[in-house]
Amino acid sequence: MKPMILAALALSLGNVHAAPIAMEDQSQLKSAPAAAPGFTPPAESELPDNAYGKMVRDGHALFVDTRRLMPEYVGNGLNCSNCHLDQGRLGNSAPLWGAYPMYPAYRKKNDKVNTFAERIQGCFQFSMNGKPPAADSPQMTALSVYAYWLASKAPIGVESAGRGYPDVPQSAEGYDFKRGEQVYQAQCSICHGANGEGQKVAKDYVMPPLWGKDSYNWGAGMHRINTAASFIKHNMPLGKPGSLSDQQAWDVAAYINRHERPQDPRLVDGSIEKTRLKFHANDGVNLYGQKVDGVLVGQGL
Ligand code: HEC
Ligand code: HEC
Repeated sequence: MKPMILAALALSLGNVHAAPIAMEDQSQLKSAPAAAPGFTPPAESELPDNAYGKMVRDGHALFVDTRRLMPEYVGNGLNCSNCHLDQGRLGNSAPLWGAYPMYPAYRKKNDKVNTFAERIQGCFQFSMNGKPPAADSPQMTALSVYAYWLASKAPIGVESAGRGYPDVPQSAEGYDFKRGEQVYQAQCSICHGANGEGQKVAKDYVMPPLWGKDSYNWGAGMHRINTAASFIKHNMPLGKPGSLSDQQAWDVAAYINRHERPQDPRLVDGSIEKTRLKFHANDGVNLYGQKVDGVLVGQGL
């Protein structure tokens, strides 16, 4: 492994192996982030040794190794588990056990009732900048069965604590790119690279890219500053969730999402402005089709 990566891993593991906090230092306990909430999904050791257990394992493999196992469906450098942490198990990281029991559900994004498979297809098209597998494909079945298994014994149709990335409200002062860049260089670039390019060992990313051609595209949920701020606040820097202030999470999310990435695959008549009006004008806080420092954002790569 490259020294950069080792340093980064040491950094992320740092707080796990931290020395016990001395008595006079108890104040640190209060500021330590609370454990992620929610439901405890079953352990792998509970899986039956039959066709069902095998399909759950297949779905798990696709979820954590998506790019390598499904190259024809993935158009960037990401795996599902890069944004749904701890293999889709972690509360406040859009865990699969929080999602599965909530479908079918209406989504404003495509203005229809989505099955669970259609929801996953959305992440393939946008977050993975790829081509969604068919709803009745073996891969989709395996991914759905993996999610179903993680949700075993969870209540159905009831929103669990820890579902999604809980909203981090925008402050009255909004966000600031300059401050965001400072947060980025101080706390993120060691892993994600000075230019958001991530880090690779041979052909595989060991640290995922945040912008550029191998990142999520302009149609992905993560392109919204509010969604990225919520993800970041609860999950980054890796190993130190909850350590950024809400303001820092917004600033760094805005800095990341002012950078170019693959085009929105829904591009209307080749026009960024038409695409902005149709899909981005009412989609949270985002920069698509707007000018930042005189440069049009959303030109795509
Ligand atoms: C770039 C980050 C990213 C990647 C990669 C990604 N997703 Fe997502 N995913 C999101 C975001 C953002 C949401 C919306 C969460 C919310 O609404 O709070 C989401 C939502 C979901 C949901 C619905 C969650 C819910 O509670 O309703 C499912 C299921 C899901 N993703 C599955 C997948 C699968 C399967 C893959 C891989 C094929 C994948 N995602 C890849 C970012 C990502
Ligand atoms: C110690 C290394 C490390 C640090 C520091 C770190 N990250 Fe990450 N980040 C990761 C890893 C690894 C993943 C993928 C998680 C996984 O696969 O389990 C990730 C995932 C992400 C993702 C979603 C995946 C993608 O590529 O879009 C975003 C966004 C992100 N990080 C932003 C940040 C921001 C912002 C900071 C600084 C505040 C930061 N990270 C600091 C290692 C790090």
